[in-house]
Amino acid sequence: MGERYDLIIRNAVIIDGTRAPRFQGEIGVRAGRITKVGALNGAKADREVDALGKIAAPGFIDAHTHDDRLLLSSPDMSAKVSQGVTTVVSGNCGVSLAPMVHGTGAVTPPLDLLDNTGAWFRFPTFAAYFEELASKPAATNFAPMIGHTTLRVMCMDNVERAASGAEIARMRSLAREAMAAGAIGLSTGTFYEPAAAAPTQEIVEVCRPLSEFNGLYVTHMRNEAEKVIDSLDETFLIGRELGVKVVISHHKVAGTPNHGRSKATLAHIAQFMGTQPVGLDCYPYCASSTILTWSRVGTASKVLVTWSKPHPEFSGMDLGEVAAKMGLSQEAAVAKLLPAGAIYFAMDEDDVQRILKFDQTMVGSDGLPHDSAPHPRLWGTFPRVLGHYCRDLGLFPLETAVHKMTGLTAATFGLPDRGVIREGAFADITIFDAGRVAEAATFAKPIQAAHGIDTVFVNGEAVWADGKPTGARPGRRLVRAT
Ligand code: ZN
Ligand code: CU
Repeated sequence: MGERYDLIIRNAVIIDGTRAPRFQGEIGVRAGRITKVGALNGAKADREVDALGKIAAPGFIDAHTHDDRLLLSSPDMSAKVSQGVTTVVSGNCGVSLAPMVHGTGAVTPPLDLLDNTGAWFRFPTFAAYFEELASKPAATNFAPMIGHTTLRVMCMDNVERAASGAEIARMRSLAREAMAAGAIGLSTGTFYEPAAAAPTQEIVEVCRPLSEFNGLYVTHMRNEAEKVIDSLDETFLIGRELGVKVVISHHKVAGTPNHGRSKATLAHIAQFMGTQPVGLDCYPYCASSTILTWSRVGTASKVLVTWSKPHPEFSGMDLGEVAAKMGLSQEAAVAKLLPAGAIYFAMDEDDVQRILKFDQTMVGSDGLPHDSAPHPRLWGTFPRVLGHYCRDLGLFPLETAVHKMTGLTAATFGLPDRGVIREGAFADITIFDAGRVAEAATFAKPIQAAHGIDTVFVNGEAVWADGKPTGARPGRRLVRAT
């Protein structure tokens, strides 16, 4: 009787992130941690939240982001906390903000996804980047990775070839610095030009520090189309060489001739999961988004321009329309638009559903927060899984949907006391209305807060309430358990 808490959430239906069935209960929070789950009759708190009719779940972990700079430039993280996200895994697809100091001239794509001016590339080490985020924290937690493409652009005068022994040694020492400073792993993007010339063995040699620090190897694979199985095999091989867990980023099969091949890729992944640690993430849309390149346009049934440095006025428009306005062929229009970003419609809905439903698939947005007309996954991923795929299509039970964005993700990335509602865990909590939750972001109007996300807590502090950010910045850098 008379116990005191900082925060009590009353009358909630709790989905704890482990995939266990939901239960009725109350949650007591003290000093940023959940200290009680159960009945809290008679207890008092500085803040009480009545969650009657709503779900209280662990805060969602965005398994795949490009938020390295967003954490600094938009620390309220509205695109994420409005969806119930409380932790972002950053530095994906080979692209990280550190360690890189940009000189003059254009930023090498795809690093320009983070900043096409170059001004934000000003951290020579991971320690310097972490120091700035420690002094100016964001609303969400973050779990950072080093990008292999960033290392290549930083250490090589010409990225269109394999790295020399000396260049490998420099990249490896920067990777070691980042791991020692607290990165959770390293990502590659061998799909993209600046890393496409890196042979498997170069990657293994650069990644040696992952073995020392038990870091993760996370990859946007070389090929997600006709050679997707070869790419999976390369990923598994790198994981075995290093003795570390691998995570396959935004798993998909792109291009019409490959539609349906997720049956084969998932069977292949399941087979290797039996012998080595493997994880994967996916976003709930059948259109992809990245930089604009002519070679990708041909594989898609429709292409939307998301940003263009020389022609910002065409953001959000169909490439065919842009070409017509310019009075040019699509190929010539692409050349005029560069550097630019695009959305490509090139996946099959059945593949997306099959991958999303796969037992070990985590939810990750792959949102591109600096695009002027971003893919709607930036603001819509998590509510779309909970609303469209779980409630409306019945792809899986709500407990499974929540697990794919909480407990499974924390376990895959090794983030202790996150992704679960239980006594002792950190108080990252999202309260949402299971009947109303839905994405509001669309391809036509992509920057919109989701419906049905009520209140979101990070380390016990509300960061999103009453449909807006609260201004609190309780986010921390998360450390991987080893
Ligand atoms: Zn990627
Ligand atoms: Cu990505």
